[in-house]
Amino acid sequence: MRTTQLAGTEVPVIGQGTWQMGEDRSRQADEVAALRLGIELGMTLIDTAEMYAEGGAEEVVGEAIAGQREKIFLVSKVYPHNASRKGIPQACERSLRRLNTDYIDLYLLHWRGQYPLEETVEAFERLREAGKIGRWGVSNFDVDDLQELNTPACATNQVLYNLEERGIEFDLVPWCQQHRMPVMAYCPIGQGGQMLANATLKQVAARHGVTPAQVSLAWLLRQKGVIAIPKAVLPAHVRLNAQAAGLQLEAGDLEALDQAFHAPKRKQRLAMV
Ligand SMILES: NC(=O)c1ccc[n+]([C@@H]2O[C@H](COP(=O)([O-])OP(=O)(O)OC[C@H]3O[C@@H](n4cnc5c(N)ncnc54)[C@H](OP(=O)(O)O)[C@@H]3O)[C@@H](O)[C@H]2O)c1
Repeated sequence: MRTTQLAGTEVPVIGQGTWQMGEDRSRQADEVAALRLGIELGMTLIDTAEMYAEGGAEEVVGEAIAGQREKIFLVSKVYPHNASRKGIPQACERSLRRLNTDYIDLYLLHWRGQYPLEETVEAFERLREAGKIGRWGVSNFDVDDLQELNTPACATNQVLYNLEERGIEFDLVPWCQQHRMPVMAYCPIGQGGQMLANATLKQVAARHGVTPAQVSLAWLLRQKGVIAIPKAVLPAHVRLNAQAAGLQLEAGDLEALDQAFHAPKRKQRLAMV
């Protein structure tokens, strides 16, 4: 598995998402098995949030990483309505309990809410000093939010980024590269939807003997400082995603994909799901 630097640690360029896990007890064993398979295949970065299944996804992750915590780079997120001086440490404790661990490697503000950024940052810093989190970062922040935040202490910005959603290439990706802030791409395979049926994407995939989802991951990873966090429960999907880290697209592939999925020509509002 190819790696990159995040929060002072070498992490795999492809991690594992967990949105929609933990919602149904009858699927829990499959979800735990999928995450364990992904870990075995090198996708040791796991992304979760207190929001996902209202803690259910963190419980799935806790079970999956039991006995192998030291191998894992664990990312979780706090709800904006909990991102206050008092709320953050309490939310973090609840997450730690569900994750069955005593530290989170990277703790993110899920999106901007009602609390002043300085208050949230101060609370994150306290958690860091207490050893409850390794580093902190943000999610769904546009360039103006990052400028307002204005600190190299922020380890990443996790944003919607895939072939169909390229708006951030106009300003946010260059800003992050300039500030050496890794971008974590969420929904990297367009939630397994229509994007994967695009004819050009299918042609590029066929040329390499791979799947459209693998091309969409390799396309994101053509750039330094980008980490993709696909979510997969089907074991075949987990395997394909791990293999995508080794796929190298050629100039002709990138040109064809640019024709099919246009790069932004002007500033676009940050897209979110
Ligand atoms: N910060 C935020 O606001 C935010 C927002 C959204 C998501 N996220 C994070 O980003 C992660 C990824 O986003 P996402 O889960 O929305 O979407 P995604 O990873 O783009 O797509 C997941 C869907 O694609 C399917 N899939 C996985 N691998 C595949 C493959 N190789 N070929 C075909 N289909 C495949 C999955 O099916 P199976 O599960 O059946 O295998 C699932 O239905 C989330 O899980 C979450 O951790 C963060």
